[in-house]
Amino acid sequence: MKVYLDNAATTPMAPEVWEAMEPFMKEHFGNPSSTHSFGRKTKNAIEMSRKKIAQLLNAEPGEIIFTSGGTEADNMALWCGVRDHCVKRIITSTIEHHAVGHTAECIKDLEGVELVYVNLDSNGSVDIVHLEELLQKDVKTMVSLMHANNEIGNLLPLKEVSQLCRKYNALFHSDTVQTMGHYKFDLKDLDIDFITCAAHKFHGPKGSGFLYVNKSLAMKQMICGGSQERGHRGGTENLYGIIGLAKAMELAYEDVEGHQKEVQALKDYMIARLKEIEPNTRINGETDPSKSLYTVLNVCFPLSESNAMLLFSLDINGVAASGGSACSSGSNKGSHVLATLDGNQYCNAIRFSFSRYTTKEEIDFAVKQVANCTQLLEA
Ligand SMILES: Cc1ncc(COP(=O)(O)O)c(C=O)c1O
Repeated sequence: MKVYLDNAATTPMAPEVWEAMEPFMKEHFGNPSSTHSFGRKTKNAIEMSRKKIAQLLNAEPGEIIFTSGGTEADNMALWCGVRDHCVKRIITSTIEHHAVGHTAECIKDLEGVELVYVNLDSNGSVDIVHLEELLQKDVKTMVSLMHANNEIGNLLPLKEVSQLCRKYNALFHSDTVQTMGHYKFDLKDLDIDFITCAAHKFHGPKGSGFLYVNKSLAMKQMICGGSQERGHRGGTENLYGIIGLAKAMELAYEDVEGHQKEVQALKDYMIARLKEIEPNTRINGETDPSKSLYTVLNVCFPLSESNAMLLFSLDINGVAASGGSACSSGSNKGSHVLATLDGNQYCNAIRFSFSRYTTKEEIDFAVKQVANCTQLLEA
């Protein structure tokens, strides 16, 4: 048996998504910029996808800019703030995905923008009081804080932060790559400036995503060389990626609350089973389900000789999980997120992440392999 519990890194594509994409790989190949019928067919498919996504988020089609995924969308948001809206200061956190963290550092080096980090509590959650203090400085500011952390799953109170940003006239970008397709968004109500999406995190294709830009904000061209995406991003569109993204969104939102309930139950079950086999097992990050992404469970196993190679042993025994973010696996650099958490030096952290396709049998199998690999149960 092989069990995949690394859905925060990427998810398998839904068969319905593949079916929606296939005709655009085989039959409908026209360049969307061509004015003949072949081009009009694919242009129309792109615009229908944009409309569908906008409807699902209570946004407007013109607010959706298709990108190659989350990293590009995060880059665009930060650069747009600095380049097009005279942002002189970015407030972010030390546990952002590198798509934000490294981009903010790069902007600081290239543009001389001030970079400020908000305090986090011992669970790694944003200190909202400190954020408000930081916002009081009279300089054009952009806040970039992720909706859910990809390693430990902590959730940001998005509405509260967006209201604070409005109060102090700051731009607000949230990296919603881990929550898009997993939580409902009402963007008119939320009143946020930028959010980002990657289709492969919710059973869509890789290399496809979008940036939402609030219609009140102007954005100049980001990629020159063509007038695609209303002049923001030149280059022939990733046609089948966009079709797949829209289909994956539609499927995800058909019963988002049902999926949430089911996956949360699996997460709770796994926590209970792991505590049964090792009562000293701790959870990294927030433990309150209302403050934690239901698809992510980051477990801190006590350090011992037998579990030092746990991630590797699990893989050999058919369980795919992660030691942190996929981007840092394979390198021996520790996780920048876990490094912020108290007491983490005494544990071996494994991230298990679930999807709507995960089953209870798979969790049972994974827990059994954890027990075997850590020799906590008789093999
Ligand atoms: C929170 C977060 N932001 C951004 C990204 C980057 O997305 P992409 O791989 O589509 O570029 C990821 C991917 O792991 C992520 O988890």
